[in-house]
Amino acid sequence: MLYGALFAVLTVVATVPAQQPDPSQDSVDDYAPSSNVQCPDISTAPLIRVFTPENQTLHPDETEYIGQRTSKVLPDAWSAWLGGELPAHGYDLADFGGKYPKIGIAIPGGGLRSALYAAGTLNALDARNDSAKAAGTGGLLQVASYISGLSGGSWITGSLYFNNWPKINELVLGNGKDLEGWLLDVPFVTPDGINLFSDKNQAFFGSVLWSVMSKAYKGIDTSMTDPWSRLISYHFLNQTSRSNFFTNDTAHGAGQLWSHIPRIPTYQQFQAPFPIVVSDSRPVGSNLTTALSLDPIVYEITPLELASYDPNLSAGMNLTYAGTHLSNGKPENGSACVTGFDQAGFIMGTSASLFNQLFDFAHNTLSEFSSSDSSGLVYVLSRQLREVRTRADDVANWPSPFNGLKSATFEDSNKTWLELLDGASNNENVPYAPLFVKARGMDVIVTIEGSSDDPNNFPNGTSPIFSSLRQSTILRSSHQQFPPIPQNVEAFIETGVNARPTFFGCDPTQSPPEYPLVIYLPNAPPLNGDDPVTNTATFTLTYTLKHTSLFLDQAHLNAISGFTPRSTAPDLLYGTCLQCAAIDRARLKVSPPLPRSKACTTCFQRYCYDPQHPPSKADLPPGRKFTFVDPDPQGFARLGNFFARNKFALIGGLIGLLALIGLLIAGLLWRKKRLLGRQQTYTRVSEFHDDDAPWSRYSELRGTEAYELPNHRGAL
Ligand SMILES: *[C@@H]1O[C@H](CO)[C@@H](O)[C@H](O)[C@H]1NC(C)=O
Ligand SMILES: *[C@@H]1O[C@H](CO)[C@@H](O)[C@H](O)[C@H]1NC(C)=O
Ligand SMILES: *[C@@H]1O[C@H](CO)[C@@H](O)[C@H](O)[C@H]1NC(C)=O
Ligand SMILES: *[C@@H]1O[C@H](CO)[C@@H](O)[C@H](O)[C@H]1NC(C)=O
Ligand SMILES: *[C@@H]1O[C@H](CO)[C@@H](O)[C@H](O)[C@H]1NC(C)=O
Ligand SMILES: *[C@@H]1O[C@H](CO)[C@@H](O)[C@H](O)[C@H]1NC(C)=O
Ligand SMILES: *[C@@H]1O[C@H](CO)[C@@H](O)[C@H](O)[C@H]1NC(C)=O
Ligand SMILES: *[C@@H]1O[C@H](CO)[C@@H](O)[C@H](O)[C@H]1NC(C)=O
Ligand SMILES: *[C@@H]1O[C@H](CO)[C@@H](O)[C@H](O)[C@H]1NC(C)=O
Ligand SMILES: *[C@@H]1O[C@H](CO)[C@@H](O)[C@H](O)[C@H]1NC(C)=O
Repeated sequence: MLYGALFAVLTVVATVPAQQPDPSQDSVDDYAPSSNVQCPDISTAPLIRVFTPENQTLHPDETEYIGQRTSKVLPDAWSAWLGGELPAHGYDLADFGGKYPKIGIAIPGGGLRSALYAAGTLNALDARNDSAKAAGTGGLLQVASYISGLSGGSWITGSLYFNNWPKINELVLGNGKDLEGWLLDVPFVTPDGINLFSDKNQAFFGSVLWSVMSKAYKGIDTSMTDPWSRLISYHFLNQTSRSNFFTNDTAHGAGQLWSHIPRIPTYQQFQAPFPIVVSDSRPVGSNLTTALSLDPIVYEITPLELASYDPNLSAGMNLTYAGTHLSNGKPENGSACVTGFDQAGFIMGTSASLFNQLFDFAHNTLSEFSSSDSSGLVYVLSRQLREVRTRADDVANWPSPFNGLKSATFEDSNKTWLELLDGASNNENVPYAPLFVKARGMDVIVTIEGSSDDPNNFPNGTSPIFSSLRQSTILRSSHQQFPPIPQNVEAFIETGVNARPTFFGCDPTQSPPEYPLVIYLPNAPPLNGDDPVTNTATFTLTYTLKHTSLFLDQAHLNAISGFTPRSTAPDLLYGTCLQCAAIDRARLKVSPPLPRSKACTTCFQRYCYDPQHPPSKADLPPGRKFTFVDPDPQGFARLGNFFARNKFALIGGLIGLLALIGLLIAGLLWRKKRLLGRQQTYTRVSEFHDDDAPWSRYSELRGTEAYELPNHRGAL
């Protein structure tokens, strides 16, 4: 079955070049960047911005966007949310003199769980949703200036933009008109079901492969991130529907570029927060294969730049030309710049590139897998990949534009490639870094906390604790500090702040405040003791429509309900309390500062974390259930039976994904190498065709090999 599958994929490869696509039409091979593009004159239009932590600058277009949104859009959004006669929060907006807090929203990783939790929660913060508006929570989204996403959180961020910022329920579930929804019931890897050889699956693999090959043929190194990026595009970009899923009638998002976000109507009208996606880097040449320490550079990708505000780099690269090797800011050859590298799917794939944590090449082990036969399959694939890889297969390969810069501090300064990884690889699963950048001057940071930390896939504070640590050490000169939070996971859990909305940093002692106010909205079970449906595993890559819909509703209810101490009742004043938190810093912008209103003072007693008098988990609602209960089980039982019957079949979910991607890469490299006449590599890959099944060789090795369980769940 394995080599049959590979052979089937390779057959597709072999036949692809026969049909030449019409380059004038949208096509899946628009995934290929354009190389040999004339570079801009860098003496007048540099591609790189270099600054220092002490004198940080933002890209001028970002400053312009925020300025326009602040002056043209936000005043009305604040009035619509908090204005009116005798509002419950007790402030007269006119007293703030038009100076409102600057708000950013952070969406962490966690695969589809995190994307769905963010969807349900954002919908509850969105004035366009009636029940959110009625609860008083709807409106926060409209007053935000920034939204940062990482891994699964980058998928909803990208999806919102590339669908022109629709209502969120319609984005996820479709609207029967122009929106098809995320199609989460269609499996990522084998969309036509588990028969790999069905015509439809074969057509799908062919299209994915065609995209990736078109990039490789430009001489740009690919990796597992590339096919993965294509799978993501089918669900989160706007060109795929149930009816065209298996055709290549459309490009399925190939050719849609992150640097084209400024052309999207929502952006042109400053109607949405400015998007930023986070990715980590593995120091090039490092043999680190699993989670990183806090040291390596953290990158951010905006519609304008690939940048890092980490003090040791402090530089940004024009995103349109990302994919071009630069040295000291100069292209090697002024007629050989690259554009089109910043494929929207590839940006989301880069941020969600967690393969390094699964394939431990250095030790020849695979995390996440038990010693079942299936691991043999993936093991062989990983071995095979290792033998044919040209560059790192398990990272997103980005030509480095920062070569030669900051050689005294930037550890990858003399490298020509960057190895970018899942943004959660350094344990900072919430993309806080961009929002704490000093130059951005954020007043309030909303955390839509869908991280999976504990065994039930609920958060336990790991991520803010790591970010707080990084900010107080490595980022001291460049970033704002984190407000006081419980110092370790045990304390986080003990105070209960991981299981109900909490405001951190309510009472700064300096003026201007020494840290932003953090609104923390953790994924948590229903107040009323119902079974939770929002704590799915990170690697669940298929959701039935029924589950998707129930998930959104439960997250929505969670986000409008607040909590009442030691009670299962929702807090009917929670909407007002959220408004209090959002507006609070405005009081400090007027001179002399305005006192906090009576209503907001009451709210803050319930929702603020006071380090002197920490709250207790004993105040949490009693009788909640924490164990995930699948609300629509038959969808997966079917798969389970299949896998039980087919010992060597590709396994569902993540293993299937890895195996498929492995097959695609192997096929791709085989093809590339064959074209290049590199007989030796060809011979190695062709061993897949041997009648002597690869897993028999694997089983000989098994005694000497160790298998590990994952030490990191927050990724993806
Ligand atoms: C800070 O950087 C900007 C832009 O690079 C520059 O114009 C300005 O002179 C710098 N200020 C200081 C104090 O170095
Ligand atoms: C899909 O998104 C692209 C890029 O934002 C846009 O140009 C196009 O009009 C969208 N297509 C549809 C059908 O919404
Ligand atoms: C279109 O899809 C088919 C598989 O159905 C594939 O063989 C073909 O190469 C694709 N062509 C293009 C231009 O993407
Ligand atoms: C990138 O460079 C091109 C060419 O100089 C320029 O037109 C474009 O505005 C730049 N984009 C950004 C975001 O700086
Ligand atoms: C620069 O790139 C162009 C376009 O690929 C190529 O024709 C030319 O030979 C290159 N020049 C050098 C010096 O490599
Ligand atoms: C990784 O590198 C370190 C330092 O160079 C070395 O001590 C260690 O053995 C290496 N680990 C592996 C798995 O190669
Ligand atoms: C930044 O650069 C300095 C100087 O080389 C180095 O000591 C420090 O370890 C670097 N910091 C990080 C986080 O890599
Ligand atoms: C890059 O720097 C490292 C250590 O600073 C050195 O070992 C390595 O040889 C350098 N590589 C190149 C290509 O100069
Ligand atoms: C908290 O989460 C981390 C993963 O993010 C996990 O390693 C740790 O065991 C968890 N601790 C508790 C007490 O749940
Ligand atoms: C608002 O969101 C809720 C919860 O997801 C949903 O049931 C309802 O249909 C939405 N209302 C509108 C008008 O979109």
